Amino acid sequence: MTTRRQLALNLFIYPGGHHEAGWRYKGSEPQRALDIGYYQDLARRAEAAKFDAVFFADGPALADDVRYGTRFRLEPLTWLSAIAAATTHIGLIGTASTTYYEPYNLARLYASLDHLSGGRAGWNIVTTSAAAAAQNFGRTEHPVHAERYDISREFVEIVTSLWDSWEDDAVVADPVSGVYAETAKIHPINHVGKHFKVRGPLNTPRSPQGRPVYIQAGSSEDGRSFAAQWAEAIFTAHQTVESAQSFYGDIKKQAAAFGRNPEHVKILPGISPFIGSTEVEAARLVEEFNELIQPAYSLNQLHRMIGLDLSGFDLDGQFPRHLIKTDSAIGVASRFKVVLDIVDREKPTIRQLIHRLAGARGHWVQAGTPEKIADLIQTWFETGAADGFNVMPPWFTGGFDIFAAEVVPILRKRGLFREDYTGRTLRDHLGLPRPDSGYAAARQASA
Ligand SMILES: Cc1cc2nc3c(=O)[nH]c(=O)nc-3n(C[C@H](O)[C@H](O)[C@H](O)COP(=O)(O)O)c2cc1C
Repeated sequence: MTTRRQLALNLFIYPGGHHEAGWRYKGSEPQRALDIGYYQDLARRAEAAKFDAVFFADGPALADDVRYGTRFRLEPLTWLSAIAAATTHIGLIGTASTTYYEPYNLARLYASLDHLSGGRAGWNIVTTSAAAAAQNFGRTEHPVHAERYDISREFVEIVTSLWDSWEDDAVVADPVSGVYAETAKIHPINHVGKHFKVRGPLNTPRSPQGRPVYIQAGSSEDGRSFAAQWAEAIFTAHQTVESAQSFYGDIKKQAAAFGRNPEHVKILPGISPFIGSTEVEAARLVEEFNELIQPAYSLNQLHRMIGLDLSGFDLDGQFPRHLIKTDSAIGVASRFKVVLDIVDREKPTIRQLIHRLAGARGHWVQAGTPEKIADLIQTWFETGAADGFNVMPPWFTGGFDIFAAEVVPILRKRGLFREDYTGRTLRDHLGLPRPDSGYAAARQASA
């Protein structure tokens, strides 16, 4: 029996919701934003909807304006460990930076989560967009974009070697002989490179998935080439189906050039859905959210995205396109381009632009009926623009509950999304193979 290609759906959890004023919306519970019960409950809801994973972003600095938003950052693996204990199937994706971690620390954190969750861990690999992080780590400068990617390539190679450093059958746990582990099957990695020196082996056995799933976020030229080589799922931001198709085609082609199966690189754009029972109701919902924004917050975010401080400008004046310098991007080069494209395509006023970005920081915001949202998802899925989505509800938990209750059943009825899980690991959900550590194959070849 051939089964139809299935959508991957992750729930991207952001305290207070993805709309910058989501925490103020009626039904939000900002007083619970630091309560683990709240997140465990949310993850259970995503699991009941049979989502592939919950997803957490991160950055090791207070980069956003918390005066007006729930933009603090709890540490994702701490969050996910507590969620692992409250769920059984859903994947657990946490973001961590190759610029501000040591490979050894990171490898053991994710291997531990993979063990303790029964094979549900995924690492969203980023190089860190927030320059403010440097000063939290005794550095004066945030490494420049190309340098960050150079470090990340070496970093990921080391983490991979560490995850592979125990062969799958190294643990024998034989009470009769008294041997717990075959030490001949545990290998130092002896890495000496440009940025790191790591002896290994890892101090935990090989994890259930062999390696936790490699997810990546970063869509610049460097980011794409890195992703094509390493990523098994890619989180990306696109405003139009054409832009997503071009990204999708480029990544799949580059992945094939690296000798990889393009089907094992899932492209997952963000979507932030505003759902109403009619188009008018959905448009009104967007308006309601826009009325709650704090322009000072929005302008600060815009400044960070495009390097232009517009405080003091008339919000209803035309966006001053001529003030943007092509090198104004501070952190995320690809998001800078997303914003410029909106400006060039829509010629907005400053207020229109900040409303446009308030929904989900440059991700795809769509308002409409459940059928319309399902149609859009299906179109992107079937026209080479996406293999699935990171769903970014404007507010929690209502924004997710409506998506799960109204849109998911339509996708299911169309045969596009699973009725139930068919496996237990994140690799199972995403249809990704479990990688071999290489040692057994090498031994066989030399035998
Ligand atoms: C969709 C998307 C999500 C991202 N999420 C994060 C994040 O959670 N934390 C972070 O530090 N950087 C994040 N980044 C940026 C990455 O860190 C990236 O490695 C780098 O800073 C630059 O991105 P670029 O390759 O798109 O220029 C994200 C980038 C994209 C495109």
